[in-house]
Amino acid sequence: MIISSTADYRAAAQKRLPPFLFHYIDGGAYAEQTLRRNVEDLAAVALRQRVLKDMSRLDTSIELFGEKLSIPVALSPVGLTGMYRRRGEVQAARAADAHGIPFTMSTVSVCPIEEVAPEIKRPMWFQLYVLKDRGFMRNALERAQAAGCTTLVFTVDMPVPGARYRDAHSGMSGPNAALRRYWQSVLHPRWALDVGLQGRPHDLGNISAYRGSPTGLQDYMGWLGANFDASISWKDLEWIRAFWKGPMVIKGILDPEDAKDAVRFGADGIVVSNHGGRQLDGVLSSARALPAIADAVKGQIKILADSGIRNGLDVVRTIALGADAAMIGRAYIYALAAAGESGVKHLLELLEKEMRVAMTLTSVSKVSDITGELLVREMKG
Ligand SMILES: Cc1cc2nc3c(=O)[nH]c(=O)nc-3n(C[C@H](O)[C@H](O)[C@H](O)COP(=O)(O)O)c2cc1C
Repeated sequence: MIISSTADYRAAAQKRLPPFLFHYIDGGAYAEQTLRRNVEDLAAVALRQRVLKDMSRLDTSIELFGEKLSIPVALSPVGLTGMYRRRGEVQAARAADAHGIPFTMSTVSVCPIEEVAPEIKRPMWFQLYVLKDRGFMRNALERAQAAGCTTLVFTVDMPVPGARYRDAHSGMSGPNAALRRYWQSVLHPRWALDVGLQGRPHDLGNISAYRGSPTGLQDYMGWLGANFDASISWKDLEWIRAFWKGPMVIKGILDPEDAKDAVRFGADGIVVSNHGGRQLDGVLSSARALPAIADAVKGQIKILADSGIRNGLDVVRTIALGADAAMIGRAYIYALAAAGESGVKHLLELLEKEMRVAMTLTSVSKVSDITGELLVREMKG
């Protein structure tokens, strides 16, 4: 199979993974309108082609939170990554490290913090959910700090889990889910050997480390449902702000008023995100939400954005719409599922190459020159 894009990696991942995992990654909430809009709205952003400006020297790197990134991209936190490829968090983190960009570990990762952090040279970013069990949150923060994590990504768009129809149909949840998952595994022997047998323990590593007993996948959905905290408000975040020594980034902002609250709260950054269309279906795509948020807070706080970014051109579009940097979720997860660490490395090379083409043909030689000026006029705002 020839692989030259995220779409190719997606097709390869679908072949390799049992359906309950592929659809868990690929799907979104309810009718998946926002999931589709994320991709379509970004793809519809037209850039101004400019030529003959000597683009022989191009710099794709940026400085973010005191770190140098080779491209303005970080890997988004993705739960259960170790189920898509053997010890997947380690493989994805190593690929990000090799390319010179940050890997963000999810709260609900398979590998615990302590397994991943020593595998990479640059500091890992850590994502935390708001959970009822504040003891777990404190424990996770302490362990993340002890392992050298710098940036805390605090995800706030999951006070309740969104409903994903595909999960019930695919066997991730729903009737006879365990039995259906078993048969799907039997029918996907490459995955069964790599992850099913050699990728053990299949555990929520960070949660088990706190509870002192295994938290298996069968507990995953139940644990999430029981532990998300709908009572959370900005006030509850204050002790975390005081406790965490490094930069704190609020992930899941989609409205300029919330972005202003994040500035008032003292956050170092926000991630403009609708969780990849997996939470409230019908909300704006990140591409549509970005310009107003940038108008409200650009320069006062770092603006990152994800949801729908599939290639290097999308990275340039996202920055032109007002972000300082982009994050990618499914794009790297498809590559990981299909080809492991080398797949993610390859995907990042493709991303960088495409960014370079986009920068050359819009005549910008550095990332800070990617601004709204690149947008065709009627696409602005
Ligand atoms: C399978 C899957 C699991 C995810 N798990 C988490 C998570 O544990 N924590 C989190 O903050 N976001 C999670 N997200 C959301 C991603 O961080 C990111 O916002 C989203 O994937 C971006 O959209 P994209 O996939 O279109 O790039 C998850 C996304 C996917 C696809």
